[in-house]
Amino acid sequence: MVRAWYLEGDGLDNPRDEHQRLPPKFITLEDLYRKTGVEHHTLNVDTCETDGSLEKLKEEKGYKFEDFLETPSEANLVESYKEHLHEEEESRLVLEGCGYYDIRDNEEWIRVEVVPGDLIVVPSGCYHRFMLDHTNCFEAKLFFKNPHYKVFERPADNLACRQEYLKKLHNGEFEFQES
Ligand code: LAC
Ligand code: NI
Repeated sequence: MVRAWYLEGDGLDNPRDEHQRLPPKFITLEDLYRKTGVEHHTLNVDTCETDGSLEKLKEEKGYKFEDFLETPSEANLVESYKEHLHEEEESRLVLEGCGYYDIRDNEEWIRVEVVPGDLIVVPSGCYHRFMLDHTNCFEAKLFFKNPHYKVFERPADNLACRQEYLKKLHNGEFEFQES
C-alpha cells in the first residue's frame, strides 16, 4: 500500500529516514494528484504481465519502450536524490523492495513511498528526486513514450515543459485521475 506524507525539513540529512512530521502529515493520492499531477496506479505484480492489465495501461499511456531497474548503486542514488525534472513523464512499476519519490509542492516536499504493485507517474516538468529506504532493495520496470530521457537539475524553470506543467497546475487540469 502506498503512503504519502509531507517531509519534515528538506530531507537532505539521512535521506533514507522517513522524515515524518510530528504529528505526521499524510496526504491522500487524490490530493497528491491535485497538488502535483503525480499519478498512481495499483497493479498485481504477479499477474499484470499475463492478465492484460499492464498491456492496457501501456496502451492508454502510450508507452512504447521499457527498461528494468535493479537496486541503484550509492552513486546513482546520490544523483537521483538531486532535485530534477524531465521533459518526459517518469513512469515506474515497482516489482521488489521500497523506494521514496519526493515530489515538490511549492516550498515543501511530499514523500511517496512505493512498494511492489505501485505504478507511479511523475509528470513532465515536475521537480522530484528518488531515494531508497534503509532496506536498500528495489526493482522496477520503467516505461517511456520516447527512447531519449534527459535529467535537468533544478533550476530548470525556463524549460517549456516546466512552464506547461505550472500552467496545468494553475488551470486545475489535474483534478481527478481515472483509476
Ligand atoms: C530519477 C531519475 C532516474 O528520478 O530520473 O530517479
Ligand atoms: Ni527523475
